[in-house]
Amino acid sequence: MYVSHLECPKCRATYASEQITQLCRCGAPLLVRYDLARVKTVMNKEDLLTRPADLWRYRELLPVRQERNRICLGEGMTPLLALKRLGPEVGLPRLFMKDEGIIPTGTFKARGAAVGVSRAKELGIETLAMPTNGNAGAAWAVYCAAAGIKAVIVMPEDAPPIPRGECAIAGAALYLVDGLISDAGKIVARAVAEYGWFDASTLKEPYRIEGKKTMGLEIAEQFGWQLPEVILYPTGGGVGIIGIYKALRELEALGWISGKFPRLVAVQATGCAPIVEAWQQKKSESQFWANAATLAFGITVPKALGDFLVLDAIYKTDGCAVAVEDEDILRAEAMLASREGTFVCPEGAATLSAAIQLAESGWIKPEEKVVLLNTGSGLKYPETVVSRPPLLGPEDHLPPLGV
Ligand SMILES: Cc1ncc(COP(=O)(O)O)c(C=O)c1O
Ligand SMILES: [Zn+2]
Repeated sequence: MYVSHLECPKCRATYASEQITQLCRCGAPLLVRYDLARVKTVMNKEDLLTRPADLWRYRELLPVRQERNRICLGEGMTPLLALKRLGPEVGLPRLFMKDEGIIPTGTFKARGAAVGVSRAKELGIETLAMPTNGNAGAAWAVYCAAAGIKAVIVMPEDAPPIPRGECAIAGAALYLVDGLISDAGKIVARAVAEYGWFDASTLKEPYRIEGKKTMGLEIAEQFGWQLPEVILYPTGGGVGIIGIYKALRELEALGWISGKFPRLVAVQATGCAPIVEAWQQKKSESQFWANAATLAFGITVPKALGDFLVLDAIYKTDGCAVAVEDEDILRAEAMLASREGTFVCPEGAATLSAAIQLAESGWIKPEEKVVLLNTGSGLKYPETVVSRPPLLGPEDHLPPLGV
């Protein structure tokens, strides 16, 4: 393993990585640092060609020491689809979508869970607790089951129902809260203080981000190390966007990529857009968003612990932050399904609405290569589609199709 230490991006304090660590003393999240000079001497990008198509192919850039601690359910190396019908239609002929909908548990949360749970197992953690908007809880519950770790999951009562079933069948202790993810977080914090459980809340442990980082590694590898101009990401806690930026920095240090980074775009819903507001005001941190509500439930995060890292990634890459309306999200979801055959989650669909907005305003140019990150499958959100097909009797004839 090539981890050198943990580092605080705010006060620069450093910590040893072989002990159980949560936040920095100053309250900021910790980031995993690697001895990249040594990685450079032991690994070439060509080595990847013969490795299995899961995220452990990047093991030198991941924090798990022993192979026996790796929990792998086949996560990673998701398709990068060229949107050949939809792209030209919305004025972006070089539009791509990285589709996380086919990963275990149906969302990209499997990446953070695979690495976070594997590392928790390696550090000897027996019980962990986490607040969630649903999908992360489901992913951590199943990976904890595979690792033999007890998971305690707290999610809003209004969260979509399918992840509840995933938590339950995997044997997690599941609780619903009459409130938002921020309220679930407070309940978890009290339990952690009382029982000494490990707190696996977003960014309160350093390893989930390492799993999500692999989306950035894959995008670079799948494009043959020639980066796209723009990546749009549906941003709640922001771990994905922070992870993608971290991946790009590490690849640059290894000398595997060069030149200008993709402009990173944080996409939020108008009903919960703290990062967009902070970016518009050129702030380095966001304000708590009151009365947060959007049907893209995964991005209903009123105040993210890593907001300053999300904003830093946007500023450093000349990116931006965009809010989209719920009705445009539903329209985008239908466009992706009917033109490209992909049934995406509302969070992923939000990135298409944002790309359309940015193409119309001229912020994205037609010749630019653009990647939408679809973070999950629409199959986890059956309530976003209304279908009322006509009911036939066994002797009925079908009418001709309308023209
Ligand atoms: C489907 C989906 N997309 C996006 C997000 C936001 O993730 P992040 O914390 O990386 O911003 C979530 C979080 O719950 C989610 O479930
Ligand atoms: Zn610190």
